[in-house]
Amino acid sequence: MKTIVGIDEMVEARNGLEGSVGFVPTMGALHKGHLSLIERSVEENDHTVVSIFVNPTQFLPGEDFDKYPRRYEADRRICELAGVDLLFMPRREEIYGDDEVEVKAPKRKGYVLEGHYRPGHFDGVVQIVNKLFHIVRPTRAYFGKKDAQQLYIIEKMVRSFFWGIEIVPCEIVRDSDGLALSSRNLYLNEEERSRALLLSKSLKRAVKMVQEGIVESGKIKEEMVGILAPLKVEYVEIVDRDFNRLEEVEIGNTIILVAAYSGSTRLIDNIWI
Ligand code: PAF
Repeated sequence: MKTIVGIDEMVEARNGLEGSVGFVPTMGALHKGHLSLIERSVEENDHTVVSIFVNPTQFLPGEDFDKYPRRYEADRRICELAGVDLLFMPRREEIYGDDEVEVKAPKRKGYVLEGHYRPGHFDGVVQIVNKLFHIVRPTRAYFGKKDAQQLYIIEKMVRSFFWGIEIVPCEIVRDSDGLALSSRNLYLNEEERSRALLLSKSLKRAVKMVQEGIVESGKIKEEMVGILAPLKVEYVEIVDRDFNRLEEVEIGNTIILVAAYSGSTRLIDNIWI
């Protein structure tokens, strides 16, 4: 595996790759969720490129940019063992220029749910992913379903800019007790971690209700909010795959989403029905 910092060097290395190129963009602190994306890319492509870049533009003022976990050596080893060809770790000064041209998230779907509570977050996401796509020019790019709205917006961006890149949605990976894996789980102490399980518990309950024939969003959300009561909840929402609010669950076209704080750590989770 080659680790590359410079953009010109990355472009040159990419030009030297023949066949399909799978790309897994990350912010590092890699866990089994990232690993599942990387393994899938290695399996499905001739070459795999992983990027690690803690992207400042997708953090709002006061968010955790400074304390976001940076574990570059451990990440490098994970990538190497997984069979990654190129690990791209660009520098902020080279990625972002002064007064640059910006790509923006869609005005409506980029500003509901996550975008409502973190206004401008998705602008930063599309800005960086667009830049990385230009540098890496992948055949396929792998994104986790845990960041469901991010996945949706990236798919939209690919269509808006005629990228012709196949976006591959990957299943959420959970710990054995149900907690969805996230780099931010590293912030949780024991008590906060155990309370964080309420997110997946509320989603499991929602699935059970649907299985029992209860499909009204209002009833499901009420039950979930009850389970999540010990946490500071930002939203519990039931949407279709196009992120429109649903009055009733539609099997095969529904995502149930939750965002809540355990202690001072903001967590998100969801389930696709
Ligand atoms: O999902 C993430 O880790 C980030 O939002 C991404 C896609 C790497 C962009 O910085």
